[in-house]
Amino acid sequence: MILEEAPAKVNLALHLRRRRDDGYHELETLFAFAVDGDEVTIEAADEPSFAITGPFADALAGEGDNLVLRAHALFEQEFGATPPLRITLDKRLPVASGIGGGSADAAATLRALARMTGVPVQMLSDVALALGSDVPACLLGRTARGGGRGEMLEAVAGSLDVPMLLVNPGVALSTRDVFARWDGIDRGALPLGDPLAIARAGRNDLEEPARGILPVIGDVLDALRTGTLSRMSGSGATCFALFETAEQRAATAAQIRAAHPEWWCLETALA
Ligand code: C5P
Repeated sequence: MILEEAPAKVNLALHLRRRRDDGYHELETLFAFAVDGDEVTIEAADEPSFAITGPFADALAGEGDNLVLRAHALFEQEFGATPPLRITLDKRLPVASGIGGGSADAAATLRALARMTGVPVQMLSDVALALGSDVPACLLGRTARGGGRGEMLEAVAGSLDVPMLLVNPGVALSTRDVFARWDGIDRGALPLGDPLAIARAGRNDLEEPARGILPVIGDVLDALRTGTLSRMSGSGATCFALFETAEQRAATAAQIRAAHPEWWCLETALA
């Protein structure tokens, strides 16, 4: 059996620069990863099968085009058929929520299949991008600056190891709809510097468009104001806050769980 972690992705900053003719947006972002996430396992079996377990399994059940299955299909198309596999996705992250759940799952599936078949991970870049703009970053799985659609990656050395709280108000947001509401104003490049300095000086240009669709994101950000930095990730609606200590993180988590028991709240850390 091969197990691959699919850690939650966080955009510490996300600057939109321009709308492209192909419908995508040119962006500059700082990708970072949590120490927690989904898990993908694959093992040889008599018959192919796919199962989803975990707290968010129901949110995905019935979706025929799960990114795990699309990653497997595209891998086979590119590198040849695999033996029959039992694939299991343990879905712990909320769906369509700006922390790359589906992208992380696809990347973990590619990593697991590459390990099983001996395909070098470096050969997976095109397949990864074909599955989604964030999949190459999730395949790398390290703090990195991202350009282009998000696929032009420059890894940043060192670990961040910062206590972090992730909070989602329990409503899925369509990435496409959020991008479509951007006002098209270029507010400037991602700054240079170390990751936390970039994060502090940066912004998320998708925050306003996402709040326009889901005003509750403003309430989530208010609840996270105790952090040293709080911001929405990706196209939302999940927001993150960074803290100096695990105790401060726990105190804010306790307040949020008491005031908003319906929100999803994960005490984690930046890797
Ligand atoms: O690449 P992915 O399938 O994850 O993108 C989902 C949608 O998000 C795209 O169809 C596009 O509308 C939007 N998007 C974008 N610019 C990017 C990434 C995503 O406009 N750089």
